[in-house]
Amino acid sequence: MKHVPERPLDRLTSIKVKLGGLIVGAVGVTVFVFWFGVRIAHLWPSVAGVIAAVIALVLIRYLARGMTTPLREMAEATQAMARGDYTIRITDTANDEVGRLARAFNRMAAELAETDRVRRDLVANVSHELRTPLAALQVTLENLIDGVARADPETLGTMLNQVERLGRLVTQLLDLSRLEAGTVPLDRQDFEVAPVLAHAVREQKLHAPGVEIDISVDELHLAADGDPERVHQVVANLLENAVRHSPAGGAVEVRARRSEHGVTIEVIDEGPGIPEPEASRIFERFYRADSARATSDGGAGLGLAIARWIVDLHGGEIHPERREPHGCRMVVTLPGARY
Ligand SMILES: Nc1ncnc2c1ncn2[C@@H]1O[C@H](COP(=O)(O)OP(=O)(O)OP(=O)(O)O)[C@@H](O)[C@H]1O
Ligand SMILES: [Mg+2]
Repeated sequence: MKHVPERPLDRLTSIKVKLGGLIVGAVGVTVFVFWFGVRIAHLWPSVAGVIAAVIALVLIRYLARGMTTPLREMAEATQAMARGDYTIRITDTANDEVGRLARAFNRMAAELAETDRVRRDLVANVSHELRTPLAALQVTLENLIDGVARADPETLGTMLNQVERLGRLVTQLLDLSRLEAGTVPLDRQDFEVAPVLAHAVREQKLHAPGVEIDISVDELHLAADGDPERVHQVVANLLENAVRHSPAGGAVEVRARRSEHGVTIEVIDEGPGIPEPEASRIFERFYRADSARATSDGGAGLGLAIARWIVDLHGGEIHPERREPHGCRMVVTLPGARY
């Protein structure tokens, strides 16, 4: 934002009042100077008239200083924006309509700059996440062609893993963009929570057969209001994280209960937990804690971003809590069923 010295009419809150003031001031000065020239200084009326006009023009120039500057700046800034430069801010010290327009313009420019930054980050992240498995596949294939590696089950298994990782990433990205664009409306209905949890747990056990996952629902037929398929996706993502961060032999638990705001679902593990400074960032797209980044089997950091979008669409809430002495409790609140 530019800092300019305050201008004479900046305090007036309406452009009409400013123009009115200018006209009254100019006419008043002209009349006075003309009267003074003719009556007191005994000038020719034509000379007195010219002097009065010049003084009125100088006065108008002084008073109206900067009234249209923001409009000129806005025209320049819009051209810069069209070229992709969102850094320009315009003078917004006036209190009238032009000043308000200038402030709205500056806010819009800031939001566009942020959107542009997010878009660039997204493209960079997506390219990076796609490149890693692609590069691994390429190396393995080259080794196979050169005869350095053999097409044994182990090599093919590694390749399949990379292809699965790519497929999963593309599915997640599609899901996220559909959720953000709102192109897949929620199929909202009253549904029973227990079967949805049981289904997610069964699926997770298929992927990680060694992990013990308990379910407890504190009320028979506990029901929520939402899209059961999407809620299943949330629970599946949370369970996947819980299992991934659990120590060997650690217990994972899924609980559901009626709460003040509806239905609360908790996914609890005995892993390292999420440190306080990271708690708000884990829902960002592609965010992974340093410890998760260090391991190669981690995901892309999209699971919780998807979960939060789904929960937000339901008008619910999701946050992590720390467990003592260690572990993580992910708490999801959804609206309760209406019946
Ligand atoms: N139960 C948990 N315990 C400890 N850290 C967690 C837990 N759940 C999530 N996190 C942290 O939050 C980060 C983001 O989680 P998110 O599910 O969005 O991504 P991800 O699991 O790394 O990848 P993806 O879900 O896309 O496969 C994780 O990388 C991890 O650092
Ligand atoms: Mg995850």
